[in-house]
Amino acid sequence: MKFVVQPGGQLTGEHRVPGDKSMSHRAVMLGSLAEGTTEVTGFLEGEDALRTIAAFRQMGVAIDGPEAGSLTITGVGLHGLAAPQQALDLGNAGTGMRLFAGILAGQTFDSELIGDASLMQRPMGRVINPLSKMGARIESLSEGRPPLVISGGQDLQGIHYDLPIASAQVKSCVLLAGLYAKGRTSITEPAPTRDHTERMLGGFGYDVDSTNGVIGLDGGGRLVGTSIDIPADVSSAAFLLVGASIAPGSDVLLKHVGMNPTRVGVLNILTLMGADISVLNPREIGGEPVADLHVRYAPLHGIDIPEDEVPLAIDEFPALFIAAACASGTTILRGASELRVKESDRIAAMAEGLSTLGIKNEPTSDGIVIEGGQLGGGSVNTFHDHRIAMAFAIAGLRASAAIEVLDCDHVATSFPGFAELISSAGLKLDAHR
Ligand code: S3P
Repeated sequence: MKFVVQPGGQLTGEHRVPGDKSMSHRAVMLGSLAEGTTEVTGFLEGEDALRTIAAFRQMGVAIDGPEAGSLTITGVGLHGLAAPQQALDLGNAGTGMRLFAGILAGQTFDSELIGDASLMQRPMGRVINPLSKMGARIESLSEGRPPLVISGGQDLQGIHYDLPIASAQVKSCVLLAGLYAKGRTSITEPAPTRDHTERMLGGFGYDVDSTNGVIGLDGGGRLVGTSIDIPADVSSAAFLLVGASIAPGSDVLLKHVGMNPTRVGVLNILTLMGADISVLNPREIGGEPVADLHVRYAPLHGIDIPEDEVPLAIDEFPALFIAAACASGTTILRGASELRVKESDRIAAMAEGLSTLGIKNEPTSDGIVIEGGQLGGGSVNTFHDHRIAMAFAIAGLRASAAIEVLDCDHVATSFPGFAELISSAGLKLDAHR
């Protein structure tokens, strides 16, 4: 599938983007490992999270739905999973593979994790290392590439792990393995990362403490089924936040958006660039902050992006690079080398597409320098990366000619219905099969 976007237009109206991807994965994982029933609403019916459901079904968990974002999971308890008959295929989902590695390292049975062409190239050494220190046995191809072959029946031992990179996936993997380990498992992180695992474990009645930057739990407890209402994904909302900020005349209300402080870097960065975003009706739902966001067009200016915002906006840089392209002056990003190992090398992919559209930019090893200017038209590669596709789609709002965005199928991993929603908001987008 490709998108063809005609230039111009504005975004308006009231919209609710689909559920949070990180929380959707975790809700299925913890619900499956809990005792009793878990009811989930607001679930993201995107391909990544659906793979997580399929994998638990392969291990004998009964999951009803999803239907209109609702799921009922009959948990089997921490020790109730059945051995899968085949490899678990997690599709495009890095989160899926890294969190499953932690869970499966603690099982009595062997398992194998595979994924699509992109996932099979992504680095898994970052989870294999700490899990091995805990006593897990995991084989991979060279440099930690999948498939991961995990040997069951190992006695895991709690460890303290100093995370070498700011990664919520690695943190979550270690904590999930810690549920199965003897004694205490704890981690420190170089910078705060999304804390949905810690919060949700608490919601399932599992004690996780976080003091002086050390996050820890004791193995051997139990999870108790609960109800989870998943808010709209701020990472998906980001495309409308940027789109409305760059397109004169735009005025959008985004409903029920997750506002976890470890996820709101996109709001902080856009605000520093001069965006007009109001946070309305802040509330807490199931242990997670939620709000409605009102965003209107405002002229943006380039900034030096504060490095401490990087982990808090790690998935939003493709959209933010489009904001930088439309801003006056120069935007500089540093300290973001993780972008090179996402669903694609997002620095290289965005640099190439921005150049195609006539925006001067200079990629660096850990970031990029972007000169704001006039976006032109052209045909851009997405490298099969959902967020690259959506970023170049919204660029059409400020382009001088049509943009053809190639290979957009993966948009459904995180934002099913993107083309319909963004068109109803005012982007002149046609999806072509
Ligand atoms: C995620 C963590 C982040 C993020 C990913 C989702 C999670 O990855 O990029 O989309 O759900 O834990 P890293 O932990 O690799 O930074």
